[in-house]
Amino acid sequence: MNEKELMKIENQFFASVYQKFPLAIVKGRGAVLWDINGREYIDCMGGYGVNIVGHCHPRIVEAVKKQCDKLISCHGSIYNDKRAELLEKLVKIAPHGLDKTFLCNSGAESVECALKLAVKYTGRKEIIAMTRGFHGKTLGALSATWNKKYRGPFHSLLFPIKFVPFGNAEKVEEVISNETAAIILEPIQGESGIYVAPDGFLQHLRELCNEHETLLIFDEVQTGFGRTGEMWASQHWNTIPDIMCIAKSMAGGLPMGATLAKPEVMDALKRGEHSSTFGGNPLVCAAACATIDVIVEENLPERAKALGEWFMEQLLEVQRKLRIVRAVRGLGLMIGLESRFDIYKILMKAIDKGVILLYSKKNILRFLPPLVIEKFQLEKAVNILEELLIEDERERVH
Ligand SMILES: Cc1ncc(COP(=O)(O)O)c(C=O)c1O
Repeated sequence: MNEKELMKIENQFFASVYQKFPLAIVKGRGAVLWDINGREYIDCMGGYGVNIVGHCHPRIVEAVKKQCDKLISCHGSIYNDKRAELLEKLVKIAPHGLDKTFLCNSGAESVECALKLAVKYTGRKEIIAMTRGFHGKTLGALSATWNKKYRGPFHSLLFPIKFVPFGNAEKVEEVISNETAAIILEPIQGESGIYVAPDGFLQHLRELCNEHETLLIFDEVQTGFGRTGEMWASQHWNTIPDIMCIAKSMAGGLPMGATLAKPEVMDALKRGEHSSTFGGNPLVCAAACATIDVIVEENLPERAKALGEWFMEQLLEVQRKLRIVRAVRGLGLMIGLESRFDIYKILMKAIDKGVILLYSKKNILRFLPPLVIEKFQLEKAVNILEELLIEDERERVH
């Protein structure tokens, strides 16, 4: 099957819910992807944040192959060695006290569990979420997702959530009450364009939650597993939530998510009140065990921190030179570059030059590369981007 043929099939038979890139990728190693014609690309998109350990990391490939030969599926109602191994590994790296875990298959699912937990544990219904927040597109997670583009058509199906401006603790103080079950937020907002929580914000929310016996939920689906330079983004502000949602990179590219909570909170869900047929199957657990080993042993959070600081400085240098760059922000290897104009053309031209980038809204470029990316690869990406931004600025002036 050639490129044209496979694109035709996907366009005809795949739900048209994705804005497609003009790319057919068939192979990946580390931070490099190859299309069906053998062309090579530097991956600065990282599968929307999935590929923290890079594509086809040999230790994950090996772990999956080995587990495939032994046992692929095993329902949560039956004990399994790989699941037990993973749960122990997770607790070891999790924020202190988040010792009980529900295993699922995606980020949205991990949020569904968190919301159910909050309602069940507190006996309250009200949830506070943030403007620009993103938590997924299943109905519960979508209720807490801010963008009207996603929520609008389904509004009548969703349960009401109070949105407050991200970073504004005074506004939270105004709306929180003894009826509030939980506050849910991303410590660094990803999908909406990389907005870092201002210092003191998370701590302030922690205090408000303690005062009102409200649960604090951190959605670390995109920020977790070292992406921001710490294992969890919440560590930048020394704040521990009651519930944490994770997914994306958890199983090295295989679909997996988890909701971690304090044991007394997790125990609010009784037998039968939540479940997932595939959640925590041995195959993904084996992949997740290997992924955590790689992240810890290769010290990827530290690598994200060092490379991220350097990369951010390169992008800030571009901003100093070019008026069209409005802002550069982020932490670790989770960085956004905001242009004053639409960046779609730049994105397409970057692909032509062998760099795959991601965008948020119309004018923000998002960098979520694998944490194993090499400095020279980031250097090449930034040089190409600078060239394209210079060209764009020139065209706009003339
Ligand atoms: C912070 C956050 N939460 C939840 C989700 C939803 O994850 P999934 O697409 O795996 O359902 C995402 C996906 O981008 C996310 O960034």
